[in-house]
Formats: sequence, C-alpha cells, structure tokens
Amino acid sequence: MNKEVIEEQIQYIRKVKEMMKNEKKYYNILTMGCQLNENDSEKLAGMLEEMGYKPAKNGTVSDIYILNTCCVRENAEEKLFGKVGELKKIKQKNNSIIAVCGCMMQEKHMQDKLKESYPYIDIIFGTHTLHKFPEDLYKVISEKNKIKDILDIDGEIYEGLPIKRNSNKSASVTIMYGCNNFCSYCIVPYVRGRERSRNPEDIIAEIEQLSKEGYKEVTLLGQNVNSYMRTEKKENRSDNITSFADLLRAVNKIQGIEVIKFISPHPKDFTEDVIQAIKECKKVSRLIHLPLQSGSTEVLRKMNRKYTKEQYLELVSKIKTEIPEAVFSTDIIVGFPEETEKDFQDTLDVVKKVNFEQIFMFIYSRRKGTPADKMESQIPEEIKHKRFDRLKELFEKQVELNNKKYIGTIQKILVEGTSKNNDKMLTGRTTTNKIVNFEGSKSLVGQVIEVKIASEHKWYLKGEKNF
Ligand code: SAH
Ligand code: SF4
Ligand code: F3S
Repeated sequence: MNKEVIEEQIQYIRKVKEMMKNEKKYYNILTMGCQLNENDSEKLAGMLEEMGYKPAKNGTVSDIYILNTCCVRENAEEKLFGKVGELKKIKQKNNSIIAVCGCMMQEKHMQDKLKESYPYIDIIFGTHTLHKFPEDLYKVISEKNKIKDILDIDGEIYEGLPIKRNSNKSASVTIMYGCNNFCSYCIVPYVRGRERSRNPEDIIAEIEQLSKEGYKEVTLLGQNVNSYMRTEKKENRSDNITSFADLLRAVNKIQGIEVIKFISPHPKDFTEDVIQAIKECKKVSRLIHLPLQSGSTEVLRKMNRKYTKEQYLELVSKIKTEIPEAVFSTDIIVGFPEETEKDFQDTLDVVKKVNFEQIFMFIYSRRKGTPADKMESQIPEEIKHKRFDRLKELFEKQVELNNKKYIGTIQKILVEGTSKNNDKMLTGRTTTNKIVNFEGSKSLVGQVIEVKIASEHKWYLKGEKNF
C-alpha cells in the first residue's frame, strides 16, 4: 500500500521533470526548528532535485521557495511572517511558487492566519503529507490552483523517497516519528502525532547505503529515541531488533560507520539495557544528550516528565559508573509557570553536579492548546530573563573549567573540513562534540584521526596532529 503511494508520487516527479525539460529552475528551502525538520527538508530537496530543480546560490532568485516551519516556541511565528512578507515582492517579480510546510502548519489557527493574511502562498502542507509534495507541486504548476494538504490524523511511514543530504560525511536518520509523552509545555505531540517507529530493516538498509557512499557518522533521530519500537508489534521478527538497545547494537556492526549519535532520549526510558548497549558499542558517542528541563521535582511533576531530581541524578551516576568516559549535554527550560526561586536553585544545583558539556537553554514559551498555557501563575518576562542569564553565567564558568581538563589528552576526532578563517587549519569534533582546530593537510577531511589537545579557547580547543 505504501509502495503504491510512493510509486504514484514518483510518477508526479517524472511529470514535473517532463514539464520543465528545457528550463533551468532553482529552489530554496529555509528550515526552522530541530533536526527532524532538517531531515524532512533533505527529503524535499531530494524530490526537487529528481524533478530537475537545482539549489539556488545564496541571494539568487528561486523558482520555488519552501519554508519548513517549527512551532515549539513563539518567536518562530514572527520569523515566518517576516519571511513570507519578504517573499511577496519576489513572487510578484519572478512568479515564484511559495510553499509553507512543517509543524506550524498542523495548527489550525496558523492555517487560518496564513490563508487570511498571506493569500498568495501556493502550497500549505503539514508533517503528515510531506510525501505528497510532488503531487501538490504538479497541481500548482499545471492547474495554477492553491493547495492546502493537511492531515489531522497520524501520518503513515513512507519509505523510498529520494533524499539530498546536507553533508557528505555525517547523516541524520529518522528512526521514529511523533511523540506520546505530552510534556505539559510542549506542542510537538499535537503537531507530529503519535509515536510510530520505522522498520529496523529499513533503517539498517539506509545506514548500510550511507556507509557505501562514504558516510562515517550517523545520528539516529526521534522525539524519544529510547522508546523505539515500543508501540510496534515485536513477535516473529527475523532480525531480533525489538528495542532501541537492539538497534544500537545492529548499527554498531555496520562497517564503515565510525560514530553513532542519537537525539533525543528521555530520562524515564533510559533503561539498563540502553546503558549496556552504549557501553558495548564503542562507536556510540560518549556525549549523551539527556534532557533535564528542570532540576526541581515539583516542576518536573507539573511538566509531566515522570522523573524526579534524584532519579535524574541517579541515572547520570549510573551511566558514569558503567561508562566512565561519558559526558552529558541537556535541554533546560527556565520560567515554567509557578517556578519559584527555590525550584530554580534546584536546576542550578543539578547543573553544578552534572557538569554538562553543553546546555540548550530555553525561556518558557506559552503554546496554545498545551496544559501549561492554562496554568495561572505565569512567570513575568523580567524574572524569566534574569534566571536565564544566571543559568548562562554558571554554565560559561563550567565550560572554562571543563576545557582545561582536555589539555594534554589525546582525542579521536572526525575531521569536518578546513577552518573558516584559515585554510591551513582543519576543524573537527571530539566524540564529546568539542570543536578542535589543528594544522594538517586537507586530505584528512572525512577521516577519523587522533590529536593531542594543546590549549583551550572557550568555544574551541586547539590540537596537534603530530605528537
Ligand atoms: N523530544 C525532545 C525535545 C523536543 S523539543 C525531548 O524531550 O527532549 C526541544 C526542546 O525545546 C525541549 O527539550 C525543551 O527544552 C524545549 N521546549 C519545548 N517546548 C517548549 C516551550 N513551550 N517553551 C520553551 N522551550 C520549550
Ligand atoms: Fe515534547 Fe516531551 Fe515529547 Fe520531547 S518528550 S517532544 S519535550 S512532549
Ligand atoms: Fe519544532 Fe517540529 Fe522539531 S515543532 S522542534 S520542528 S518537531
């Protein structure tokens, strides 16, 4: 059934290609939000390139513009309206096609707002209808219609769409879609639907293909990767892959792949089995992203996160005991409704204890339709900002101290390319995601090599290749 659906879309790709046979056409995709959206944009780029479109060079006019939106925080809305406004003039001059897609398009009030205020948009499609983009585009070109293609029910998983990746060294592979957790602040479960996992064999085949193409690093993506396969049938599987831990072990066996990353796991599902799999699988990055959100047990309860401050700290220490070289990064929200100074102190306390390598900090943003939006004691903007600054200050002090610990150590790094400011310098990342700059020949790009860390410079480390 899925095969037929994709076959139909491939026919539409051919039809569009046929229509613009002798013309040079260009596309431009602006992606907002997380790596899942980036991965969706890579699929859109893949479909467009199969149709014959080429990526537009910076600043040049395109024949089609796609805005792939995010709605996890409020500022994304203003950004989108600004962009759509700018595109109006380009459309008038060049008759470009404008498509808006992604998570924000699953929100009814956003669909209405775009229809009312920006009627010149040609295609609006949601997260569950991405695979139908060739058909939608064909209809816009041939029938000059405006298209709205949004499904409110959960989309199915479609395999076999073309893909044009952003990098030729490191690739993202979505392993599951949707989320069942309903954290009380979060809009994602409403716009991405229920949790559903891709078949292990499709994931393994994709990564084997990546390895053949020369990719060295893969990042497994999902809103809650360690609940992979939890909602799927597990009986009679010939490959015996029925959990995230099994998947890690299987990916670890794929030759040619040297680094495996994953985002995001949920602390509540970080089972012993997952810890053991990471321990056994040497290719799995030792930088573990473990979203904290808040260090206060009371706030965590109101957030519906299903763990306490103590359970989070215990988990960190359990992982550290099993995998001593493990380090952590995290996501933290400050200013959740009813967050007291004492609650915030608990967050600072966890930050001090865990000593994160990286913290993605967010100021709480009210999202329509989520339970937290209806809570009475919303925190004033000024307090939220002050707490944010205090958290940032604490973290920056820790970064400096952490960096000093790297000096003199030997680190395995994937060489990503030459440094932006000096093409004699190469740049890469450690398995803990620290940027390392060092002198070396360009032929090392794409390889995994060892360097010795010589000095620290706050946002990067300097290394030596010949030590
Ligand atoms: N599934 C992932 C995160 C997805 S959203 C997880 O559970 O970790 C990425 C991050 O955005 C979240 O971790 C959270 O820190 C932040 N976030 C989500 N909703 C938010 C909101 N309403 N306001 C501020 N930050 C938010
Ligand atoms: Fe949002 Fe929570 Fe799901 Fe992450 S786990 S996407 S924060 S609801
Ligand atoms: Fe944003 Fe959608 Fe990702 S809301 S964070 S782009 S899943």
